[in-house]
Amino acid sequence: MLGDHFLSLTDCTGDDIMDLLAVARYLKKRSRSGVIEHALAGKTLAMVFEKPSLRTRVSFEVGMTGLGGRAMYISKDEVGLGTREPVQDVARVLSRYVDGIMIRTFAHQTVVDLARFGSVPVINGLSDESHPCQAIADLLTMQEHFPSLAGLRIVFIGDANNVSRSLARACQLVGANFVLACPENYAFSEADIAEFGDDWGSVVQQIHDPLAAVTGADVLYSDVWTSMGQEAEREERLNAFSGYQINASLMTHAATGAKIMHCLPAHRDEEITDEAFESEASIVFDQAENRMHAQRAVLRLLMADDREDVLTAAVQ
Ligand code: CP
Ligand code: NVA
Repeated sequence: MLGDHFLSLTDCTGDDIMDLLAVARYLKKRSRSGVIEHALAGKTLAMVFEKPSLRTRVSFEVGMTGLGGRAMYISKDEVGLGTREPVQDVARVLSRYVDGIMIRTFAHQTVVDLARFGSVPVINGLSDESHPCQAIADLLTMQEHFPSLAGLRIVFIGDANNVSRSLARACQLVGANFVLACPENYAFSEADIAEFGDDWGSVVQQIHDPLAAVTGADVLYSDVWTSMGQEAEREERLNAFSGYQINASLMTHAATGAKIMHCLPAHRDEEITDEAFESEASIVFDQAENRMHAQRAVLRLLMADDREDVLTAAVQ
């Protein structure tokens, strides 16, 4: 069973991921059948954003409303985390008002400190280190497009960043193979590699040649080359990643029936061509929709009083 918070997939087991996916599929099916949920009636989620967002903000707010609760958006300027007020005080004050906190921030330590000093569940809505909600939505989407996650070859073309780090860990936990196709200076760190343990070099790998990396790939996954907070490096990154674009030519090396994924927002004709983005192989909008279904599972398993019941119903 998922723990008290959802901060990083390094805290999760394969069973936690499978539980989340089962509840997400169950809630998605019920939502499509018009079932009105009340599991979070009377509960409030505070959503603290220190970076911009479309998907995370809207999917959490709609997801929370769809479970009978409400969500409150708090901007960087209002809360002034660590400047107007220390994180440990914000954590304790918010915990007196709300039933859960979702945060999008820069330093991962801020997410950890909110959880440490607060007394309500904390959800990581993206930090510089990880994006666990995205990875759950990604696996959910892959489950819908492939017979099984086990044994898939997922190739992320880009840098070792929040999205690729979480996706690599998610793949490792469910028995999928993950390859990071990246330039030499944008690879996983020694600390990342240590986290992957014995699976490093086999289940989780990095390959610098993009053609070799995508050969036989079931999924070609892309993200922006310059993440939020790295804007000063944009020119340098545009040069470094110029051979790492998802395009029709790269796709010819992938497996038959391979899919294209992107966490969005996408920069067309940088990390992915417009042609590839709009192609039949692209499942990026299924993926974006699944952010909401995946997060409803996270909210339900962290914040509802009937965690065990929903899990039992979902796995039946
Ligand atoms: N993929 C994702 O997290 O999108 P937003 O930045 O729009 O929330
Ligand atoms: N790596 C990107 C993901 C955006 C959803 C960023 O951090 O900006």
